[in-house]
Amino acid sequence: MSDRPRPLPLLGTTRHGSRDAMTCLYRCANACDHPVPNTSDNPYFGDLVHAEVSRRGVVRAGAVGAMVLGFTGTLPDTPAAASAATNSPARPPTTPTGGKGIGTGALTFKPIPPNTLDTFVVPNGYDHAVLIRWGDPVVPGAPAFDLRRQTAAAQARQFGYNNDFVGVLPLDKGGKRALLVVNHEYTNEELMFPGFTSHEALTVEQVKVAMAAHGMSVVEIERVAGTGQWRVAGSGRRPYNRRVDALSSTLELTGPVAGSSLVKTAADPKGRRVVGTLNNCAGGVTPWGTVLSGEENFDQYFVGGDAAPAADKPRLARYGITTTARYRSGSRRWERVADRFDLAKHPNEANRHGWIVEIDPYDPDSRPRKHTALGRFKHEGANVIVARSGHVVVYMGDDERFDYLYKFVSDKKFMTGDSWVARKHNLTLLESGTLYVAQLGQTSAAEIDGSGTLPSDGAFNGGGRWIKLVSGNRSYVDGMSAAEVLTFTRLAGDQVGATKMDRPEDVEPSLHTGKVYVALTNNTNRGVGSNPKPDEANPRTANRHGQILELVEDRTDHTAETFTWSLPIVCGDPADPSTYFAGYDKTRVSPISCPDNVAFDATGNLWISTDGNALGSNDGLFATATEGPERGHLKQFLTVPRGAETCGPFVTGDNRSLFVAVQHPGEITGATVDNPASTWPDGDYAKPGVVVTWRLDGGPVGS
Ligand code: FEO
Ligand code: CA
Ligand code: CA
Repeated sequence: MSDRPRPLPLLGTTRHGSRDAMTCLYRCANACDHPVPNTSDNPYFGDLVHAEVSRRGVVRAGAVGAMVLGFTGTLPDTPAAASAATNSPARPPTTPTGGKGIGTGALTFKPIPPNTLDTFVVPNGYDHAVLIRWGDPVVPGAPAFDLRRQTAAAQARQFGYNNDFVGVLPLDKGGKRALLVVNHEYTNEELMFPGFTSHEALTVEQVKVAMAAHGMSVVEIERVAGTGQWRVAGSGRRPYNRRVDALSSTLELTGPVAGSSLVKTAADPKGRRVVGTLNNCAGGVTPWGTVLSGEENFDQYFVGGDAAPAADKPRLARYGITTTARYRSGSRRWERVADRFDLAKHPNEANRHGWIVEIDPYDPDSRPRKHTALGRFKHEGANVIVARSGHVVVYMGDDERFDYLYKFVSDKKFMTGDSWVARKHNLTLLESGTLYVAQLGQTSAAEIDGSGTLPSDGAFNGGGRWIKLVSGNRSYVDGMSAAEVLTFTRLAGDQVGATKMDRPEDVEPSLHTGKVYVALTNNTNRGVGSNPKPDEANPRTANRHGQILELVEDRTDHTAETFTWSLPIVCGDPADPSTYFAGYDKTRVSPISCPDNVAFDATGNLWISTDGNALGSNDGLFATATEGPERGHLKQFLTVPRGAETCGPFVTGDNRSLFVAVQHPGEITGATVDNPASTWPDGDYAKPGVVVTWRLDGGPVGS
């Protein structure tokens, strides 16, 4: 495939500072054209500062047991032990390991330059391969992909569209076999169906294909001997392979909302079984070997909000569902296939989406579960750390302009060991607990003028507190029951004065230092018109490039109700004075725009993928140390093809393989499958796919 830029069918129209118009339509049904759903008038938190600053650096090693099938060794408590113990592709520890040198980075690769090539670019000394792409067989017996004769039955057994989250879980101790678990967030019908004209004109079978292309895939993969490369396992070895989709998969509701009147429908009078999972975006791998998947922009699949009961309308509107017209721009018209998507007939159906889904990839017969105890919003990542007390803590973001940051603390404690007793117990951990929303204070509020100028105390920083919303079946929000708080969590956050953030996407604790990192993608509405003004955590007016927030729980206790925070990275072109890279020499860092997903490698370096680069380059993946003198030395590791967003990423526990998902390649206005804006990866038309990258000499990726 040529690396030469090829002419686009039409110039894409960029909107809202970064994204192509086609992305806005399909990703979130032009959410930015609709009013900001958060119209609450939260009280301001003022200048809350903690006298007690959390202890930095080394924290005690996690004395937890084995992780998942195939990883039975004692967990590492030093970097040396970590490298010896983690030839499994598992993420190594479950609690902070600490240790000298962790997160201080030795990122030796030469950064690649920004570019607009229609190819996947990695640094010299690295190679990459497409592991799996849209339409490839997943379930045994799946037919070969046929673009012009697509059927829902075939798609339901093939790899879905628009891969986002990527997790890799071990199947053996030797690091040779693993399970790839991937989210399929949404579909681009123009880029899927030859001759596409409109959603209304799609055949019913094509709508079903699109529904079957949503959801998740579990795929067994195997290492290419002696390298960091992986490939899909042979067709004879696919007992774990499965698809979950939006068409016919049944998921189980757990937690306080399961069985409540808020989720009962004609098809499910008990309120416990939901057909389909929608818009699965980011996620996380749990310490007990399951995958969490966030249902994000579920609003776009529903019609008929105008005819929903009047009492429901404010709740629907707070989640972005149109209540003044039957359809909105970009309506996918799924009600043509299943009338559960028509809120005029089934107003509770919307309440059954927007949850965190847990799937057990090791048990292909298990029913995925929607955990209501973790709240309902436009979920992105859900990443778990085991607190010193043994309770598990899940960090989560609600990806909408001016929405909130959350955490969940389980009632029960994590059980160590890889016995089936432990596993069965751990599978219940997310069914009950306490849900909090974040309120951030400021140290330099008077100096925040929207320009991005660093305050005189040298940092965008402050304290903060976790406000308890609900614990078990007890609500802490006036006038809302526990089930209401969990189902209309955004409204609960409004009421308690949560801090309005610039699109909190992925939120992930470093299992090395215990610090939590939040990707705040952008918010071009910040400080514009009557929208909320900049604050110290969201310090720029019309924020086009986003920022990274680092959160340190007080006493490094992940169950704590107070924390401190700072912005180590304020994104953009380093030449732009409003950017900040932890004080590092800005002439030596790569430009970055719109951070989206974060991950950590086995040495604790932070990897950041982007979505919607507003600096004129394709999206990409970046890495930086989080500690020591190299903190803030951000380097660009790869770029994805034209029109794509970089998702995943996932670095294996042995640091030898890096996985990213190339989502929506060629998603540029005017492009079609017949006249594509990208021909990645096969030279014909664009296909979303998962890529594995490795170092040619077999060494650790990045280092
Ligand atoms: Fe699906 Fe917020 O990205
Ligand atoms: Ca400050
Ligand atoms: Ca994303």
